[in-house]
Amino acid sequence: MAPTAGNRILLVGAGDVGAAYAYALVNQGITHDLAIIDLNETKARGEVEDLNHGVVWAPSPTNVRFGSYEADSAGAALLVITAGAAQKPGETRLELVDKNLKITGGIIKNCIDNGFKGIILMATNPVDVLSYAAWKTSGLPSNQVVGSGTTLDSARFRYLLGQLYDVAPMSVHATVVGEHGDSELPALSSATIAGVPIADELARHPERRLEIEEAFYVTVTSAQRIIKAKGSTSFGIGMALARISRAILEDQHVALPVSTLLSGEYGQQDVYMGTPAVLGRGGVERVVQIPLSEDEQKRFSDSGAALHAVQDPYFQ
Ligand code: 2OP
Repeated sequence: MAPTAGNRILLVGAGDVGAAYAYALVNQGITHDLAIIDLNETKARGEVEDLNHGVVWAPSPTNVRFGSYEADSAGAALLVITAGAAQKPGETRLELVDKNLKITGGIIKNCIDNGFKGIILMATNPVDVLSYAAWKTSGLPSNQVVGSGTTLDSARFRYLLGQLYDVAPMSVHATVVGEHGDSELPALSSATIAGVPIADELARHPERRLEIEEAFYVTVTSAQRIIKAKGSTSFGIGMALARISRAILEDQHVALPVSTLLSGEYGQQDVYMGTPAVLGRGGVERVVQIPLSEDEQKRFSDSGAALHAVQDPYFQ
C-alpha cells in the first residue's frame, strides 16, 4: 500500500550529488514535481533555473522549483537526502558520521514535523548508519526508510566485469553487498556474466580469478580515486538514485541492492546494510537474502560488525 499519492520528490542537498541526481530525474522524466532545498539558497536557486532550461527536451515535463519544508513535506512521496559533509581525499565514509548525523537528523525532524509520511531515500555517507538513524529519528516503519546502499558499488563492479568480458554491464549480474564502504564484498558465488555463472567460468579458467579480484579492488577504491581527480563523485550516484527513485515511484518491484534494515537476514540484527531488496510504492516491499558462500558470509558478518561498531555508541 502506498504511503502517499502523487510523485513529488523533495530533494534536500543541491551539491554535486544533489545536482547530478536532479539532472538525471529531469532527463529521464521520473517525477513531475521536484522541490529542491539547500542551506545555500543561492546555489539551489541557480540549479533550479538551469535545470528548468532543459525541460523542453526531456521525455516528460518536470516542475523543478526551490522548495521549503513547510510547503513541500506533507505532499512529498519521496524525500531524498544528499546534504552533508562529503569525503575528502584519504577520509573514510565512516569518519563522517558525527557531522552528518547532526545534519541529516535536523532535516528529517523538519520534514516529519511538517507532515512528511512518504519514503526516505538516504544518500549521505556513511549511508548505512545514516539510514538506520533516519529510521530511528523519523519514527516511520523501516520499509519506508531506505539508503542508496551498494547500488552504486554493484554498478561499478558490473561495469568493470563487463569490460573484462566484453559484455554490456546490463548483461552482468553481480551484486556487491554489506557496508557501502571499505568492508563491502562481492557476492561472486551467485554472479553471472551473460548468463554464465562466474563460479563455472573460474572452474574452467582459474587464472582469471586475479582479474576479477582486481575488478573488485578497483570497485572499492573508485570513490577515493574520483574524489582525488575531480573533488567528488556525482554522476554514478546521481543515476543510481534516479534508478531507485523510479523503482519506488512507479511501483516497479525491481530488486536493487539498497541499504535496508536487516532483522535476521545474513545473521544480522538491527543494522542497515546493502542487500538486494524489492522496491515499490511502499518502499522496501521485501528484503532478498541472496545465497552466500561460507567465505562471503564471514565477510558479510565482519562488515556488519564494522557498522555496529560505528552505530552502536550513538544508539545504545
Ligand atoms: C561513492 O562511493 C563517495 O560514497 C560515494 O561514490
